[in-house]
Amino acid sequence: MTATIERGAATAPVTSPEGAKPPVKKKPKSSGGFLGSSNGRKVIMAVTGAAMVSFLVLHMLGNLKIFLGKDSFNEYAHALRTLLEPILPYRSVLTILEIGLAASVLLHMWAAITLARRAGKARPVKYVAKKSQANGYATHIMRFGGITILLFVIWHLLDLTFGVVNPKGFDSAPADRMVAGFDPSRWWVTLIYLVAVAMVGLHLRHGIWSAFQTLGWANRTRYRALKGTALLVSAVLVVGFLAPPLAITFGVIK
Ligand code: HEM
Repeated sequence: MTATIERGAATAPVTSPEGAKPPVKKKPKSSGGFLGSSNGRKVIMAVTGAAMVSFLVLHMLGNLKIFLGKDSFNEYAHALRTLLEPILPYRSVLTILEIGLAASVLLHMWAAITLARRAGKARPVKYVAKKSQANGYATHIMRFGGITILLFVIWHLLDLTFGVVNPKGFDSAPADRMVAGFDPSRWWVTLIYLVAVAMVGLHLRHGIWSAFQTLGWANRTRYRALKGTALLVSAVLVVGFLAPPLAITFGVIK
């Protein structure tokens, strides 16, 4: 009995001694270069994740300006829109940053989904529940958290950027939208933010740690320090983000 094996482009007929078909080795699928490789996609996740964390740090610092007064917050919101004016037209830099942020979100999600699919296909048997508890927790937090954050951001934009679901509407000063949005009577909005920001914190803690591993920084000696850094960055962001909504809902900022 004859079978054909591939060696490069050439093919040669071979006969197995027992007459049985020799196992035909499948040519490994082309990885499609850096973007196609799993490592490439993990690097994309790390780089886009870093861009989003940088945005979150700046966003949190900007939000905290509300503690310096409504004028201070409005000035900051105005400054964002007039960056590099008059060299560039109104809102150009902000629009470029927004496009970069949106691209980061999409690339991050694409890499996450395709990596998860690949891992699912590569696993011949589903994990035994007990063995996979730690892994399963992280996977659930990342997937469920990611979807929750996406839904939150849609609500958040309708609320504080476009004013569609905000009592003050679009034609109001950013500080007024913020104070009206978290008014004590709208405590449930603050509750939504609380849950969403907690999700952001959990997502970040795991994401930052994963990025350290992707970058090859994680080893035995640095394990605790890097885990601690991931926890610290996430905790600072959670506290910093929740301070303004809670201060408004509890009447500290009016
Ligand atoms: C929890 C406390 C937060 C508060 C009080 C807050 C407040 C605001 C405000 C006032 C704006 C409008 C800024 C402006 O029009 O000048 C805004 C925009 C935005 N926020 Fe937040 N934010 C919070 C958390 C978050 C989180 C956790 C995320 C992401 C996960 C996020 C993502 C965004 C995005 C993407 C924009 C639009 C940025 C732009 O297009 O310029 N925010 N936020």
